Amino acid sequence: SFTSQMEGKNTVMGRENCRGKGGKAGFKVAILGAAGGIGQSLSLLMKMNPLVSLLHLYDVVNAPGVTADVSHMDTGAVVRGFLGAKQLADALTGMDLVIIPAGVPRKPGMTRDDLFKINAGIVKTLCEGVAKCCPNAIVNLISNPVNSTVAIAAEVFKKAGTYDPKKLLGVTTLDVARANTFVAEVLGLDPREVDVPVVGGHAGVTILPLLSQVKPPSSFTPSETEYLTNRIQNGGTEVVEAKAGAGSATLSMAYAAAKFADACLRGLRGDANVVECSFVASQVTELPFFATKVRLGRTGAEEVYQLGPLNEYERVGLEKAKEELAGSIQKGVDFIRK
Ligand code: NAD
Ligand code: LMR
Repeated sequence: SFTSQMEGKNTVMGRENCRGKGGKAGFKVAILGAAGGIGQSLSLLMKMNPLVSLLHLYDVVNAPGVTADVSHMDTGAVVRGFLGAKQLADALTGMDLVIIPAGVPRKPGMTRDDLFKINAGIVKTLCEGVAKCCPNAIVNLISNPVNSTVAIAAEVFKKAGTYDPKKLLGVTTLDVARANTFVAEVLGLDPREVDVPVVGGHAGVTILPLLSQVKPPSSFTPSETEYLTNRIQNGGTEVVEAKAGAGSATLSMAYAAAKFADACLRGLRGDANVVECSFVASQVTELPFFATKVRLGRTGAEEVYQLGPLNEYERVGLEKAKEELAGSIQKGVDFIRK
């Protein structure tokens, strides 16, 4: 890799250093799309995570600059950069966790599905690399439309004979972060004390917050329910419009991705009771993929939790969510099969 001169073992002045090579416990993490809006902040946050021993930063542009910059942080993880398709295999080999925020973001007036044309191919290529170079890695998929790209990734892995449904996780953590924030605002609580399950998928009406299951137990008036559900479902669009053409959520997304990746790493380490919402292969509904709470363990999403009791408003929302989700999932499957 082009930054090998920055690794302790290769610098003129550096002494032999085993970090990331078993000398110190820790996981090997790759970020694909590391030079992007999400990717840069996420690189920073993963460099700060004490569970990470080796951080691989891959992009088709600007990876050297981001890598040089992040590598000067005096935290434990060793950072290496990889630029362009020729270095994808080296970026992926040996990784425990691969986080994928590669792809174009929305501009005002677009839906996430409008990104399919470009991002489907990007996700396909990157997942082919994962299947070949680190078939046992956990994959955190961020690239939109998540409701379709997770199905694309699954089909790529099936074709390669490497598919493990427990290891493919669509990242919906930002929906939960938004839900916790907006609900806390309404309840007058600290958002850190609030837990809102958000199920379904990651676009518009497929984002279904279960306000009847909020912790601490709370009740909402019909107008509060309407306001909160709409705001959570349209949180992404709120940011896209505020950025006015300059992209979509990057900072809150990097935060959410770092939080989710940390949960995956704690699961891999064997911590008990690591539970997050994620869009995964699921038998909770008749759809092949669905977001619910999952328990993260040594082998990925080891347990997929049921929806729990829904109120009438949520039951109606669930039907709408499932209808849109079915089409988005099928579109992803067809992209690889047809
Ligand atoms: P960005 O344009 O700032 O960054 C994307 C990066 O991907 C760029 O650096 C680009 O060079 C890189 N890239 C493009 N093709 C690549 C390839 N083949 N291999 C590796 N890297 C490649 O966009 P962003 O704001 O960081 O958003 C990235 C994606 O994340 C978008 O699709 C966006 O819609 C999505 N997103 C998802 C969520 C979520 O909750 N899941 C939240 C926010 C954004
Ligand atoms: C989000 O929810 O912020 C992302 O999916 C980006 C977008 O396009 O809204």
